[in-house]
Amino acid sequence: MANHLVIVANRLPVDRVVGPDGAPGWRRSPGGLVSAIEPVMRSGDGVWVGWPGGTEQDLAPFEVDGLSLVPMSMTDEEIEGHYEGFSNGTLWPIYHDVVAKPEFHREWWDSYVEVNRRFAEQAAELAAEHAMVWVHDYQLQLVPQMLRELRPDLRIGFYLHIPFPPAELFQQLPWRREILEGLLGADLLGFQLPGGATNFVRLVRQRVGHKTHRNTISLPDGREVRAAAFPISIDAAGFEELARDDEVVQRSKAIREALGNPRKVFLGIDRLDYTKGIHARLRAFSELIAEGHFSVEDAVFVQVAVPSRERVEQYRILRDDIDRLVGRINGDLGRIGRPAISYLHSSYPREEMAALYRTADVMAVTPFRDGMNLVAKEYVACRVEEDGALVLSEFAGAAAELRQAWLVNPYDINGMKQAMLDAYHADSKDLRRRMRAMRRTIAQHDVEAWATRFMTELEDS
Ligand code: G6P
Repeated sequence: MANHLVIVANRLPVDRVVGPDGAPGWRRSPGGLVSAIEPVMRSGDGVWVGWPGGTEQDLAPFEVDGLSLVPMSMTDEEIEGHYEGFSNGTLWPIYHDVVAKPEFHREWWDSYVEVNRRFAEQAAELAAEHAMVWVHDYQLQLVPQMLRELRPDLRIGFYLHIPFPPAELFQQLPWRREILEGLLGADLLGFQLPGGATNFVRLVRQRVGHKTHRNTISLPDGREVRAAAFPISIDAAGFEELARDDEVVQRSKAIREALGNPRKVFLGIDRLDYTKGIHARLRAFSELIAEGHFSVEDAVFVQVAVPSRERVEQYRILRDDIDRLVGRINGDLGRIGRPAISYLHSSYPREEMAALYRTADVMAVTPFRDGMNLVAKEYVACRVEEDGALVLSEFAGAAAELRQAWLVNPYDINGMKQAMLDAYHADSKDLRRRMRAMRRTIAQHDVEAWATRFMTELEDS
C-alpha cells in the first residue's frame, strides 16, 4: 500500500527464466535503470509497476532480489493495440524522425488510453500520501495526467527515454493534444537532450496555448511544469569491473581466436530495429572489403542483432532485409572459414557483452536516430586499456557527450566508410587520447548520478 516511491514503466525490470530444475522463475534484467533506482527503492519503500511480457492474466505482486514488483497483465488485444500498435507502430516511428512510416489507427489509440488508465489506477492505489511517482517512456504518456486526477497529492515525474520529435513531425498525430495534456500532468518532465525539452515546450505553447517561460510552463490553475534534459547513462563502474573480470578477459581471447585472429574486429550490437542503421553500416563495411582497403583476413564485422518486437511488420521486413544483405555480402566476399560478417540474431548476458566490447577494436554505433544509445557508453566503460575506436552517429543522444568518437552521418555511406577506415588505421596515441576523454565523461556521469539528479529535482519541484 504505502509506497513512497512508485516506478511506472511499460516493462518490469525482470526476465522470465527457467531454472536448472525446470521450474520457471525471474531474473533481474541487465538494464542500468533498475540498479540506479535500487538503493532508493529499498530504502524508501519503493515498488515497480510494469508488464512482465506475455499474456498471463491475474499475476500477483512478487519480489526479485528484494525488489517489490507489481505485474500488469495485458490481453492479446492490448498487446496488439497498445504495445505493438500505438506504441511501436505509431509513436516509435514518429519520435524517430519517421525513419519508417507511422500508422494511425483509432482502435490502437483506444487501447493505448485503456492501458494507460489501468497503469495510472494501479499507481494511484500503491502510492503513499505525497509519494513520488516516476513514470517512464513513450508507452505511458497519458499516465501523469490520469494519475494527477486520481491523486492530486502526489509528486509526479515523467522521463522520456527516446527522442521527443520536432513539432513538424509530432503534429501529424491525430491525438497530439491529448498526449501533450497527458504529459502536463507531471511536475517535472525529463528528456535526453535539451532539444527534446525545447520541442515539447514549443508544442505546448502552440497547440495547448499555455504560457511558457524558457523551460517552464504555467498552467491556468497556477501549477508549473518544468521540462529539462537529463541525459541517461550506465552503471559505468559495474561495466568496468566486469571488463576486468578474469573470465571475461579469457572469454574475449577465445572470441578473437574463434574469429581467426583477424587484425581488427569491428562490432555492432543493437536491438534489431530500423532506427539503428544496421543495413547501411554493414554495406559501408562490405564496400571497404570489396574495394580492397582491407581483406576478410584483416578484419571481420561481428553484428549482434537482439530480437525485438517480432510481430510488428516493419521489424519482420527489416529482419529479412538484413538476412539477405548478410547472405549476399558473405557469399560475395567471404572465404572458407572467413565470413566478412559474423551475424548473430540473439541476445546475450552482460558478461558476454563485456567480452565482446573487450574484443572490438572498432565499435560502430550508427543509428539514424536514437534517444541516447547505451551500447556506445558501455563500450567506452569496458575499454579499460584505454584503446579501441568508437564510430558514432551524430544522431544518437550519446554524441552530445562522446565528442571524441569518430562522429558520422549515418545516411552518408561514403562518410561512414571514411570514418571506419580512419578508425581502422588510427595510431595508438590518437586512440588513447580519445578514449581517455570519453572514459572520464562516462565515469563522471553514470546512471546513479542521473537518477539522483532527476529525483532531487522532482523532490524540489
Ligand atoms: C527502448 C525503449 C524502452 C523499451 C526498449 C525495449 O529502449 O525506450 O522503453 O523497453 O526499447 O523495447 P521493448 O519493446 O522490447 O520493450
